[in-house]
Amino acid sequence: MEEVLKKGGDDRLAGKILACLFYEPSTRTRLSFESAMHRLGGDVLSAVGFQFSSLYKGETIEDTITVMNEYADIITMRHPEGGSADKAASVSEVPFINAGDGPRQHPTQALLDLYTIQKEKGSVDGTHITMVGDLLYGRTVHSLSFLLGLYDNMRFTFVSPKELKMSEKVTSFLTEKGINYTEVEDIEDGLDADVLYMTRVQKERFADQSEYERLKLKYVLTADMLKGKDCTIMHPLPRVGEIDTSVDALPNAAYFREAGNGVIVRMALLCMLLDAV
Ligand code: CP
Repeated sequence: MEEVLKKGGDDRLAGKILACLFYEPSTRTRLSFESAMHRLGGDVLSAVGFQFSSLYKGETIEDTITVMNEYADIITMRHPEGGSADKAASVSEVPFINAGDGPRQHPTQALLDLYTIQKEKGSVDGTHITMVGDLLYGRTVHSLSFLLGLYDNMRFTFVSPKELKMSEKVTSFLTEKGINYTEVEDIEDGLDADVLYMTRVQKERFADQSEYERLKLKYVLTADMLKGKDCTIMHPLPRVGEIDTSVDALPNAAYFREAGNGVIVRMALLCMLLDAV
């Protein structure tokens, strides 16, 4: 897909339609899916915003997806409810891709993160990754941990306040697989990793906004903190202050390249799921 993209795309998905149903805000995921489909000659139907959909009128996710099966060859959906993707997939006869279901999972982000680690570091096996921030509600760190847990000799350091510790589903999974992980509160204890994966505190998951305000900038990564370190800096974005812009000029600041990789990875995924490899 890198080669296909370099020459501006091709038409292997001509005549195919992707439905993008986004009931929660998104910039990268939706637009990189759309870009991927356009690059491959396909078409896109986009529904954006809960209040502009019939879910707002009380339609079930299952009914919406059943109808979308009449309109599109493949569907991707982001929804604020954990488990919404399972409901959608259970009734969809066309391929369905989870683009983020509440605080649970964001699997295509994990795929592009994996691709980014491979590109930036040369391999995935044996990587020590430090994940920082909102590890409870941040769905990208959940999906990425499940995926990296399939590789050999991985090591995880989780840096968070005690209120936002890594989801128990992830730590149980790692324990079952016999994978080493450490949980700490001080970011300085996680900077000697191969990959430093920063995350935003998920404002939209907090019932008590004063609690969000208290926790939102507990970790702010600056260029000074990275002196003498050679970790690759990643972030699913958007960032809202947790990576200072002084980091952007460092050669190992990979978060904008990471976002760019979303197009290539989603091109590959669309082709695989539509049998157009
Ligand atoms: N990484 C990510 O999911 O970004 P968006 O919320 O902009 O889609």
